[in-house]
Amino acid sequence: MKKLGAALAAVGLMAVALTGCSAGGAGGGGGDKVITVGFAQTGSESGWRAANTQSMKEAFSSKNGFKLIFNAADNKPENQIAAVHSFINQGVDAIVIAAVVTTGWDDVLKEAKDANIPVILEDRTIDADPSLYASWIGDDFKKEGETAGSWAAKTVGSTPTNMVVLEGTTGSAPAIDRAKGFSSSIGGTSITTLDSQTGNFTRADGKTVMEGFLQKYGKKINLLFAQNDDMGLGALDAIKSAGLTPGQDIKIVTIDGTKDGLTALSNGEFNYVVECNPLLGEQVASVVKDVIDGKKVEKAYTAKDLAFDQAAAKEALPTRKY
Ligand code: AHR
Repeated sequence: MKKLGAALAAVGLMAVALTGCSAGGAGGGGGDKVITVGFAQTGSESGWRAANTQSMKEAFSSKNGFKLIFNAADNKPENQIAAVHSFINQGVDAIVIAAVVTTGWDDVLKEAKDANIPVILEDRTIDADPSLYASWIGDDFKKEGETAGSWAAKTVGSTPTNMVVLEGTTGSAPAIDRAKGFSSSIGGTSITTLDSQTGNFTRADGKTVMEGFLQKYGKKINLLFAQNDDMGLGALDAIKSAGLTPGQDIKIVTIDGTKDGLTALSNGEFNYVVECNPLLGEQVASVVKDVIDGKKVEKAYTAKDLAFDQAAAKEALPTRKY
């Protein structure tokens, strides 16, 4: 069994102090007052995203003292910036952002700062000046890529192997960092990248792009790195339609660890899955409260992620939460 962690830490988060900076200006104050939070979600591209949205909605419930204004941007950066503008205009107490892409944030975050509205990032990192947001809570995408790449290096890296890659949303932190991590782990092996294209983190695009790869390279492909489960699941249809056996003719490594991904692993259609924990809501809500109360928070909180082979997937599935 190749589980990387000792136990399934669904909500266990490890605090990592990166800069020791304190939170930005708090608006509204804590106590018994209902806290109004605007949440700018990426969209609804994947099973991971559905679990993350549910976790956030549960944590930011009225029972917990929040009023949540939820916006899903359909993975369009311009929609997301517009949502954040709208939150500022509505005078919310705090803004939480799961950024579609890493760039283009400085102006709107400066506006939030001028309005004394603290911004907390969840899930995805951005390139903006860190003084413009109070904290980030999420997963270590680079490490996820490294873990997936280490598995590939160990499993097929000593024989000539042709890989194709299904990338996530272009310009998003997970697409950038997972690619970097994976590349660093396969350096010096016999794995060659035949092609790498975006499948936008969706099943539909994963299938379409994989069909294109198969038309172009046919049986040359031995390995697929799908940067999330959904794209890998979409690719399964394309591989089977091409008369090939996923998991055997083409080895498949993915990232997320959703129930559907672990089921494909348990069935032998995927070969390895690296976890990305989406259950961040409780920790994000706690940081939002602390920021509003003027308490010092860490600049970054990194979730613990596991990794699964077939045996570990079989063991995890009966109690898997997402
Ligand atoms: O940012 C996390 C990524 O976004 C997940 O891996 C993917 O499934 C999602 O859409």
